[in-house]
Amino acid sequence: MTTIRNNGPLMAEIGRIAEVAGYLWTNGWAERNGGNISVNLTGLLTSEEMVLPALALATPLQEAMTALGGHVFYVTGTGKRMRYVAQDPFANGALIRIAPDGKSYEVIAEQLVAPTSELPSHLLMHNYLRSSGRDNRVVLHTHPTELIGMTHCKPFLDSKVLTRTLWSMIPECRIIVPKGVGIVPYETPGTIELAHATIRQLEKHDVVFWEKHGILAVGEDLIECFDAIDTLSKSSKIYLSARMAGFEPTGMTDQQLDDLVPAFGL
Ligand code: 13P
Ligand code: ZN
Repeated sequence: MTTIRNNGPLMAEIGRIAEVAGYLWTNGWAERNGGNISVNLTGLLTSEEMVLPALALATPLQEAMTALGGHVFYVTGTGKRMRYVAQDPFANGALIRIAPDGKSYEVIAEQLVAPTSELPSHLLMHNYLRSSGRDNRVVLHTHPTELIGMTHCKPFLDSKVLTRTLWSMIPECRIIVPKGVGIVPYETPGTIELAHATIRQLEKHDVVFWEKHGILAVGEDLIECFDAIDTLSKSSKIYLSARMAGFEPTGMTDQQLDDLVPAFGL
């Protein structure tokens, strides 16, 4: 019998998912079932594993994910807590395989866990990135307190203003999030409308805020997606600590920010 647990590289990737799920919880970004993760595992599966039998009937997708036909993803389960994903990723998430026509998916391993309610956003983002030739295997969505807090302030609902404010708190932020951040105005969680608004922001950014809800990062590597959000979170904490102490932080100057571009090959 084929068991994915014998696949070393695959299990190493699942281990990284568990590691990051633990960070989300310990950082206080994952209240109850807050946040979700998807990782494209297609390149890590053997040809036998790619054709594992489905554990249940196929579930139709709202839209055809034409660039994802045949791809296999690990996705966290809906209602599942990150603190438990960290302990047991297979009891709190599943491997799903997209049908060749991109119109449905099947759960193929290891347990019959229903995918996150944000599957429309995750899959549409993967679909958009693949069809634009971008090699991003990962979508990470989480609920970082201070970053969400900033989206409750109207002036920060402008991508340029929010990016400039966060970049200017600490040089690393400009370096680690070079494309800045996009913002999606509030939409009901889990909807295809939210998904469509999100992929529009991916044209220019690898990190996107959902107003009054959370943040998403896309990338080749889950740890790097986490690091990008963690760095932005650090900047927001510096900004808000200064405001709580009663002063407006000076922030780095335009020149100081621009000097980072050649210095770090941005
Ligand atoms: P799920 O439990 O369905 O993944 O939802 C959590 C969440 O953060 C919704 O945006
Ligand atoms: Zn959320």
